Amino acid sequence: MIEKCLFPAAGYGTRFLPATKSMPKEMLPIVDKPLIQYGVEEALEAGMHHIGMVTGRGKRALEDHFDISYELEDQISGTSKEAALEGIRRLIRDCSFSYTRQIEMKGLGHAILTGRPLIGDVPFGVVLADDLCLNPGGVGVLAQMVELYRQFRCSIVAIQEVPAADTASYGIVEGEPVRGDIIRVTRMVEKPKPEDAPSNLAIIGRYILTPDIFGLIESTPPGRNGEIQLTDALNEQARRGCVMAYRFKGRRFDCGSVAGYVEATNHVFGEASGDQS
Ligand code: UTP
Repeated sequence: MIEKCLFPAAGYGTRFLPATKSMPKEMLPIVDKPLIQYGVEEALEAGMHHIGMVTGRGKRALEDHFDISYELEDQISGTSKEAALEGIRRLIRDCSFSYTRQIEMKGLGHAILTGRPLIGDVPFGVVLADDLCLNPGGVGVLAQMVELYRQFRCSIVAIQEVPAADTASYGIVEGEPVRGDIIRVTRMVEKPKPEDAPSNLAIIGRYILTPDIFGLIESTPPGRNGEIQLTDALNEQARRGCVMAYRFKGRRFDCGSVAGYVEATNHVFGEASGDQS
């Protein structure tokens, strides 16, 4: 249904300095697997096998990760260590990967516009890999959203409730309930102070976007710090009644922050070692 997924991955990751000085934030491992690999697995599960990445300076490790390393393959060939590469080999086999570079980091909206040549004129998924979404034993978050796209044929944003004090870190939605877990969005506010927030429903890093978003981003003037926000273009779609917000099933970890990253690491390690705490 939706075959393409865009990964904006050009951000500087300043909250993880110095670790991210010469290494992409998206290559930070949660236990033994980099964040970007979790994201691509989720996209493939949702049927999106054409993967487009918007990268930037110092992000070459992302391309190398989704390629064969012949010396390494030769070195571990025939040993038990080969099992550790099974997951990534499957992604390399089943997906196509294309890359483009964002030259100036002018915000998420600008990063998505930069990815336009990798997408074309079709609806597509967007994954911000620093948001790790897990739904063990169930369907992944992006696959849940594809199911909704089938019904509504409009842009879908994933949302979760956040503490009122945290609204200034997110895009916050306002809208009319369509059913328990779905809201038709009427308005979005980018990073409002708690007293200005229309709700405590925050947009997280999973989207399905219809391709008219590109033209809308193009006509969005730069805002704070010269950045072009995705929220402004989404607001235009919302005015036309074409954005649904979805309270997904599963758990999201904000791995763009050190605290969220540590929480995700402990959770995944606990699950793997059978620790129920
Ligand atoms: P963040 O707001 O998390 O920014 O971007 P960041 O630069 O990655 O991290 P900090 O805040 O400095 O620690 C959200 C997502 O949008 C991408 C990032 O790579 C991340 O996946 N992004 C952001 C771009 O691709 N380009 C941009 O210009 C900005």
